[in-house]
Amino acid sequence: MTRKVKSKFSDTLEITWYNGKKHLNTKNANYSYGSLQAILKFGLEKIDLKNTNSILLLGLGGGSVIETLRQDFNYQKQITAIDIDPVIIDIAKTEYQLESNSNTTVICEDALQFVKTNTSKFDLIIIDLFIDIKVPKEFLELSFWEDVIKSKSTNGVILFNASLEDKKSNQLQSVIDFLKTKVYKVDVYEKVNDTNTVIISKPI
Ligand SMILES: C[S@@+](CC[C@H](N)C(=O)[O-])C[C@H]1O[C@@H](n2cnc3c(N)ncnc32)[C@H](O)[C@@H]1O
Repeated sequence: MTRKVKSKFSDTLEITWYNGKKHLNTKNANYSYGSLQAILKFGLEKIDLKNTNSILLLGLGGGSVIETLRQDFNYQKQITAIDIDPVIIDIAKTEYQLESNSNTTVICEDALQFVKTNTSKFDLIIIDLFIDIKVPKEFLELSFWEDVIKSKSTNGVILFNASLEDKKSNQLQSVIDFLKTKVYKVDVYEKVNDTNTVIISKPI
């Protein structure tokens, strides 16, 4: 019941059934529809989506957070999702029936480039960028976070899924310190689902 697909970016991707759900995994990580989906749901529960009119998702994967937003939170407004990997975008469409429509825009691009050139403002930015178990190091550099801040609306919220490995790193701490200077409140949740650190920054 496991389908393996090669990806230039994430090596071998596995689509496999587990506990009645079709998971998207890499060699060492769950990308979508398993613990990853639970981690992002934990973060979304801390955010008021009533006044959220647009969401930018950096890291589409199989699109499990879109399922959570649409089904569990009944969020029917605009979502723009970015992923660098055309193989993953194809998996999201064919294995998980993710549809591009007037409410869901999928763009195949490096997230770093996207935020550099983007001129739209989003009410919620979800940052879920991994290669296997690691957040690529460019996403812990402040130049990326400057661009993220430029892409959010005045009252916009940021939800960042950071890996366990980076939990104690100085770089992650400098991102947290930077966000504190730019937005009003930064909440750090450690060991969400026993693994990841989730960071939420929002106005008070
Ligand atoms: C954990 S998965 C995302 C899961 C997804 N948010 C969900 O809800 O199912 C991480 C994704 O980040 C993408 N990614 C990694 N580096 C990237 C980059 N530089 N630009 C855009 N996407 C990237 C990977 O291709 C992978 O699909």
